[in-house]
Formats: sequence, C-alpha cells, structure tokens
Amino acid sequence: MSNLKMDAVLDYVLKNSKKGDPQSVLDTIDSYALEGALDRKRFLMNVGPEKGLLLKNLIIKHESKRILELGAFIGYSAVLIAMHLKSDGCLISVDPDPNSIEVASKIVKQAKLTNMVKFIRGKAEDVIPKLDEPFDFIFIDHAKKRYLSDLILLEKTGLVKKDTVIFADNVGLFKEDMTEYFKHVRDSSFYNSNNIDSHLEYRENIYDAVEISVRIRD
Ligand SMILES: C[S@@+](CC[C@H](N)C(=O)[O-])C[C@H]1O[C@@H](n2cnc3c(N)ncnc32)[C@H](O)[C@@H]1O
Repeated sequence: MSNLKMDAVLDYVLKNSKKGDPQSVLDTIDSYALEGALDRKRFLMNVGPEKGLLLKNLIIKHESKRILELGAFIGYSAVLIAMHLKSDGCLISVDPDPNSIEVASKIVKQAKLTNMVKFIRGKAEDVIPKLDEPFDFIFIDHAKKRYLSDLILLEKTGLVKKDTVIFADNVGLFKEDMTEYFKHVRDSSFYNSNNIDSHLEYRENIYDAVEISVRIRD
C-alpha cells in the first residue's frame, strides 16, 4: 500500500476515533475499510474483526504475556493484541516498511498503548536472530512465502517453547503457498494444529482460514 494511502487511513483514524480508547480506534479502522468495501484501493490487509476475534480469544485463553507479531502494517492487530494483554505483557511487532512502522506507532499511540508495544523495523528473517527469550504467542501475518522459513528460524533460535501458540493468518486465501507449512505443523509430533475456516478481512464472500498450532513439547 502506498504511503499516501496509509497516511489517509491514519488521518481518518486520528480525526474520527476516541484517543485512549483502543476499541474506538479499531472500529474506526473497520469503518474506513468497510465504507470502501467495493473500492479495491481502500482494501486494508488488517486481520479484521472476524479473525481478530479468534486472535483475541486465544490470547485471553492462553493468558499470553510475551507476544511476537510478524507484519505490522498500520498497527490494527498491534492495538487488538496490546489491548488484551495484562499490564506486565508486551508485544514486539516487526515490519521492514518504514512508513508502516511510523503509521502503526501513531495508531498505537492514539489507542494509548505505546507502553505495551515495541516496533522493530526490519525483515523478520533479519530481526528474529537478534531477539532473545521465547514467546508465548506468535502472530505470523507477513510475507506469505516466508511463513515456514521464519517459523523454522524461530524454532532454531529458541524463540518457540512448549505451549507457544503460533497463529498464522491468511492460510486459506494463500493455501497454495502453505503446503509445506501445513506439513510442518500438522505432521510432526511438535504441534497440535487446527485449521479454522473464516473469511478474508472485510470480504464476507471470500474464503480465508487461520492455522493455530500449539507447541506441545520443547
Ligand atoms: C498483512 S500485513 C500485516 C497486517 C497486520 N498484522 C494487521 O493485522 O493489522 C503484512 C505486513 O507484512 C510486512 N512484511 C512483508 N515482508 C515482511 C518480512 N519479511 N518481515 C516482516 N514483515 C514483512 C509488510 O510490510 C506488511 O506491512
């Protein structure tokens, strides 16, 4: 998405959402996307409300404290995740696009969640080896062809532990790219993995799915 389009969303959110109210920030982004539902130029690749509910429920269910996100975009999922973290929780969100990092930081600031979120500019494959301490929850939502290689890198660098939840978005829409990813999380004895049917964000008529894989041993 071009810088101009991302800046237009930011402007809309700053004008129309209630500062310090994360739900208002998310609702405002959703309205912006839905008002332009027939306008492909206005399509926003956020996790969106339907898959976002799955994300929220899992974070609450697993009481996840330390969360990693691959792919920040405009910070929609960062707000959604951070607003459901306990006060001692934290989210690290990685994206190589400088404009994404800038816009996402401002959106998170509008939700008054800055203290819960650290954005790191860089490609996941470059940033992952520099991180330490395993994560409770990893939201994979970046380059679709990199899901498997980056998950393997996360495993090799010790960032995945027993009970880590891996939530992979868009595995229905991009299922052709996911064959090896599915084999990795479904056919090994390391994960308990489930596929949940859903829809593409803001498009009720387009199939999508998420893969939720819980690591069952170190
Ligand atoms: C689908 S969007 C993320 C949406 C966001 N998680 C949400 O739901 O609000 C994908 C993002 O991944 C980023 N991205 C692309 N390649 C990446 C990589 N190698 N490492 C990390 N992020 C990447 C893009 O810049 C883009 O902002």
